[in-house]
Amino acid sequence: MRNQNKKKVKHLIYSSNPVGFDDNVIKEILAVSRDNNTKNDITGALIYRQDLYLQFLERPEDEVDNTYKKIMTDKRHNDLHKLSESIDSRRLFSTSAMRGDPVETWMWSYEEVKGGLLKNLSAEEASAAFEKFSKNVDQFN
Ligand SMILES: Cc1cc2nc3c(=O)[nH]c(=O)nc-3n(C[C@H](O)[C@H](O)[C@H](O)COP(=O)(O)O)c2cc1C
Repeated sequence: MRNQNKKKVKHLIYSSNPVGFDDNVIKEILAVSRDNNTKNDITGALIYRQDLYLQFLERPEDEVDNTYKKIMTDKRHNDLHKLSESIDSRRLFSTSAMRGDPVETWMWSYEEVKGGLLKNLSAEEASAAFEKFSKNVDQFN
């Protein structure tokens, strides 16, 4: 019965290939993302390395779609692949308008990414990676 009172949260995960990646670019992306996401009630995480972006966006109802549409047209990355879209009862990154973290050692090697592993992740694998990541980083999770 308790579940009936919980809000529905839309989760969206995509991967992409950075264009012109450096420290300043990632700082800029995160600064604008945090401003906008705070206004739009979006939380999430962006995992980055020179060869990959993997982003998790979440928001009650379906408003993440508008932000994703904007992100899709951004010239600072290409080769976007939507990996997972689902409705859950809770947020994974409830305290972060947009975390930004370098790829961790348990994630993917350069060789794996070059071989296309990331863009071929199943929805389950992509979700499981962020579940694991959020347990490490979000104290409320
Ligand atoms: C990898 C990547 C992730 C991004 N993530 C977000 C995000 O979570 N929220 C957001 O508003 N913009 C994000 N952006 C930036 C958008 O593409 C766009 O530049 C920005 O939303 C425009 O904001 P404005 O309409 O306030 O000028 C991201 C861009 C890239 C390249």
